[in-house]
Amino acid sequence: MARSEQERLKAIAKAAIAWFTEHHRDLPWRKTRDAYRIWISECMLQQTQVATVIPYYERFLNRFPDVHRLASAQLDEVYQLWAGLGYYRRARQLHAAAIEIVESGQTPFPTHRDAIAELPGIGRYTASAIASFAYDQPCGIVEANTQRLYARLIRCKEPLSDSSTQRTLWEFAEAIVSAWPHPTGELNQSLMELGSQVCKPRDPACGDCPLREHCKAYRFGETEQIPAAKPKKLITDLREIGLLISDSHGRWLLRRRHSGERWAGLWDFPRYDCTEIQSESAALEFVAGEFHKLYGKRPEVGSQCMSVRHSVTRYRILLRCFEARLEGRLTSRRKQSDSELDSYSEPDSYSELEEFDWYTTEDLGSLALSSSGRKVADWLENRGS
Ligand code: ADE
Repeated sequence: MARSEQERLKAIAKAAIAWFTEHHRDLPWRKTRDAYRIWISECMLQQTQVATVIPYYERFLNRFPDVHRLASAQLDEVYQLWAGLGYYRRARQLHAAAIEIVESGQTPFPTHRDAIAELPGIGRYTASAIASFAYDQPCGIVEANTQRLYARLIRCKEPLSDSSTQRTLWEFAEAIVSAWPHPTGELNQSLMELGSQVCKPRDPACGDCPLREHCKAYRFGETEQIPAAKPKKLITDLREIGLLISDSHGRWLLRRRHSGERWAGLWDFPRYDCTEIQSESAALEFVAGEFHKLYGKRPEVGSQCMSVRHSVTRYRILLRCFEARLEGRLTSRRKQSDSELDSYSEPDSYSELEEFDWYTTEDLGSLALSSSGRKVADWLENRGS
């Protein structure tokens, strides 16, 4: 790299850190160098706002203060502490990674970026962030905030999602840390904080930015055009029908979603995708038939009582819930509890069995439900009061 470019990057790093020292937010994961804790925070911060994460982070670490406690927990317990954060795959992968760390003897946490990147659910950004924040390893980081900041600094006009753009941004991120002869943890935190607090997507606060003189987008008056607008996502609408079935004790029927399904492992009301079915009566007939196939009883479906809208990845789901009744008891197969299973049964050998149970409205409060199932449960609770 040319000496002048090296000096420019060093000046950027220095100005970012000076700004950070004065302006940073006091966030709980910034008070630790414990890689395990930093990992938990980064995992929660994927797709979730800082203010939402803080209480979850505190509760989670109170319950699982180290990787051993997390690895020995039941997945359901992890889900319970995750309930409300959404994207439950993150919780599942966190638990799987904790088990892998303990089983491979890399406790309390792997110490090198490449080993961290091998764990389930950890991508290049998270591995680099942990290695840098906890161990000061010379790793650049590119995530939502820094990618916008870097794109403006270098005047990169291509969409951020292009793989060639990502390559350019990672090169830039690595070049900054290489040019900085001091620990990288603080530098990366500074760049991230600047991206989030100053170099905002709309109306960036260029007047307050310590990197203004180094910013090519600012110099050319292009901060509103960079980064380029996201290519539009193709949204698919799904229409589902859910059944609210209660027994004579007023308990609701819930089932656990199994491995091939969206939100695997979480509990939910029985619900069926009816997107392709045009008429209401045909959809209700389909739902009753599908329920019968699985549970051996045909529900009598009443009227619609509520609906929930939920978006996940490129799907926009409309879930309409109907009250329904069952004559007699359900007798179909039911998953055995873990203690009833043969000790040599593989988890996948029973995961496709339908697991269901009856819960009072009160019980639903502590059950690991899908996000849309949670909205239905909240509605039931409010309706009852
Ligand atoms: N978003 C992702 N990681 C973060 C962190 N460590 N601090 C603040 N916001 C973040």
